Amino acid sequence: MLSSKEIRSQFIEFFQAREHSFVHSSAVVPQNDPTLLFANAGMNQFKSIFLGLKDADVPRAVNSQKCIRAGGKHNDLEEVGKDGYHHTFFEMLGNWSFGDYYKKEAITWAWELLTAKWGLPKALLYATVHESDHEAHALWQECTDIPPSHIEYHGDKDNFWEMGDTGPCGPCSEIHIDRGIEHCNKHGVAGHVCGVNGDCDRFIELWNLVFIQYNREENRDLTPLKNRFVDTGAGLERITQVLQDKSSNYETDLFMPIIDKISELSKLPYTQESGMSHRVIADHIRCLCFALADGGFPSNEGRGYVLRRILRRASRHGRLLGFAEPFLHGLVDTVVSIMGHHFEELRGKESYIKMVIKAEEDRFNKTLDTGLQKFDEICLKLDGNLIGGKDAFMLYDTYGFPLDLTMMLAEEKGFKIDHRGFEEEMEAQRERARKASKFGGSHTQDDWIELRPALPTLFTGYEKSADTAYIQRL
Ligand code: ALA
Repeated sequence: MLSSKEIRSQFIEFFQAREHSFVHSSAVVPQNDPTLLFANAGMNQFKSIFLGLKDADVPRAVNSQKCIRAGGKHNDLEEVGKDGYHHTFFEMLGNWSFGDYYKKEAITWAWELLTAKWGLPKALLYATVHESDHEAHALWQECTDIPPSHIEYHGDKDNFWEMGDTGPCGPCSEIHIDRGIEHCNKHGVAGHVCGVNGDCDRFIELWNLVFIQYNREENRDLTPLKNRFVDTGAGLERITQVLQDKSSNYETDLFMPIIDKISELSKLPYTQESGMSHRVIADHIRCLCFALADGGFPSNEGRGYVLRRILRRASRHGRLLGFAEPFLHGLVDTVVSIMGHHFEELRGKESYIKMVIKAEEDRFNKTLDTGLQKFDEICLKLDGNLIGGKDAFMLYDTYGFPLDLTMMLAEEKGFKIDHRGFEEEMEAQRERARKASKFGGSHTQDDWIELRPALPTLFTGYEKSADTAYIQRL
């Protein structure tokens, strides 16, 4: 059986043998693209080449990109753990042509790698093309031996790929695999028919071949680019699942050592049926390790808040497994042992990552119990199944529960949240903060005000990353 390490190397070597240069993954926390929360696709680091702002150093490239899809246009956070193939953090294997080859080679090589090199059964593979892309449809027929009935036209929703609200984009052709009727989670539901891009877990996408031709402008117009590009992305975790013949990504060698460690620490064995918390934690700890290694930090806004939410969800799932004390930092070494050989940037940062995760989890743990108690009280008093915006906001503001954590708790009980009410409370608080920040009266014109400790302070920076002190105006 191929290991994930071998699969990654074979992908890279396959394209290197076809004159592609290896380019290391860019950081998962983007350095200079304000339109992106996190790197969400392999093409991000080549964006300026597509837009014609920079010349490509090489005509063809291959890599394995660290991606986080937990906010913005591509957000899989809420799917994580429920199925076996959505993640906050994943690796995207990809090959690129910068104005060099185009659809024909992209399709031929993807098919060759999947079927000739990796031996996937042709009868189980399906290709989709954009409803306007007759050229790609014809190429699948001419250049591969895919069963003709397995080439399907789909619309913009599934076959027009965009990196964000703005940026390079184009029609795409996806390759899906039929994992068998046993993976259908809608079996027997009236009217359900399994199919590619259907609403069950039987067919999953393995590889997306994007034919980049346009830039999406802020006013939503599509401007044709000067050149044509190939941008492909195949999830390493999914390819590994299929090649290792597992029924979920979590059973592959990319996740199983983390799941085993969670079982060892919690003394609760993993099963697919009862393993949602194991899965969420295994997913989230990978995301946190990579984000922190690349310069992310939990905080109250933007990227930092996404990381805080992810950590708090993982911590809450830890509670469900019986962890009363911080435990997430105990998984960091396992993540580094699986991934550190390819992503050397993780190496040497283990103690820093553990320290940040432990401090953050510790802080959250202090409010988690009281918050959970409060949540239960709210549920007991509920008339109907809608948790009010004021209550959700109180959990957020006083107990540090991100909205999606409250949503997760509510969902467990079959309740919903009044999102609009929550947003109104949030806006009211922003307004209060704006007013408060003016310090009132004559001070509004001051450039700065001087503060001094109201009580003697103690330096705790070696043990903690945040602490409370009392200050007053001089
Ligand atoms: N950029 C394409 C994707 O993310 C390949 O699916």
